[in-house]
Amino acid sequence: KGLNYLARNAGKLYFGTATDNSELNDTTYTGIMDNYLHFGQLTPENSMKWDATEPEPGVFTFAAGDVIANLAKSYGMYLRGHNCVWYEQLPDWVTVNNYNATGLTAVVENHVSTLVGHYADAWDVINEPLNDNGTFREDVFYNTLGTEYIPIALKAARAADPNAKLYINDYNIEYVGTKSTALQNLIKELQADGVPIDGVGMESHFIVGEVPTTLVENFQAYADLGLEFAITELDIRMELPETAALLEQQKTDFYTVVNACLSVSACKGVTVWDWTDKYSWIPSTFPGYGAACPWDANFVRKPAFDGIAIAF
Ligand code: XIL
Repeated sequence: KGLNYLARNAGKLYFGTATDNSELNDTTYTGIMDNYLHFGQLTPENSMKWDATEPEPGVFTFAAGDVIANLAKSYGMYLRGHNCVWYEQLPDWVTVNNYNATGLTAVVENHVSTLVGHYADAWDVINEPLNDNGTFREDVFYNTLGTEYIPIALKAARAADPNAKLYINDYNIEYVGTKSTALQNLIKELQADGVPIDGVGMESHFIVGEVPTTLVENFQAYADLGLEFAITELDIRMELPETAALLEQQKTDFYTVVNACLSVSACKGVTVWDWTDKYSWIPSTFPGYGAACPWDANFVRKPAFDGIAIAF
């Protein structure tokens, strides 16, 4: 049985994966993806980001994003839009134009409403707003608008698509700690102010043998706020070279994370940040680390695959 089948059977909406346009030219890759047993959900890894969708002010390009959206649509897969407002992969014009508060508000509203109006079942409207110490990241949005950029974006998103689930997505919020508390406080303020917010994305870029032990307790705290949440970017990297012992630990670690999602009904689904080590972002971003996905670089299932399947 495929992983998505198992996820749905366990009451989740999906098991899914991030994917990138260039990977879709690899017929071995698409051959495994195309049986749709394993993946009931897609996230475009890069092609819906700001630099890809609005490279010049007011000039929108959806060609690449649409390839993934249409793939999802044609197979009835859940589509997570990723993402609207983020400090990275932001075209230079957003910062160098030195917008004042009124100008940047219009820029954010136009970007968010055009994206969210275009497609997706759920959107990471706000991506990575917090520093690890729980303070707000001092990016162009915060520096110009303060925390107001968050309600501005969420309201524009709701107006553009009343049915899309609106998320804030971040890392190091998966476990009990300062950053997670700060995000919960932000959410309480948004809720008190009547700002639309449906869910929280737990990125979950973990390290083998170091999966946090407070996932369930932390997940429950978000559920208690009346929110849904999802594991949005799961991978579990190891220091290379990979060994049999590390691969076994990785199996346990994937089991632990999927099981934590199963323990809390507000967890809607699990997305891996690509499914094969061949296309993982890890080696280029964390030198010395890799082998973070459930399939190896030759598309062979790793023990981690079994960890996911057993958990579901
Ligand atoms: C990463 C992609 O995987 C890379 O291909 C790209 O070069 C950089 O971005 N948090 C996020 C994702 O929200 O968008 C990032 O994706 C990984 C970290």
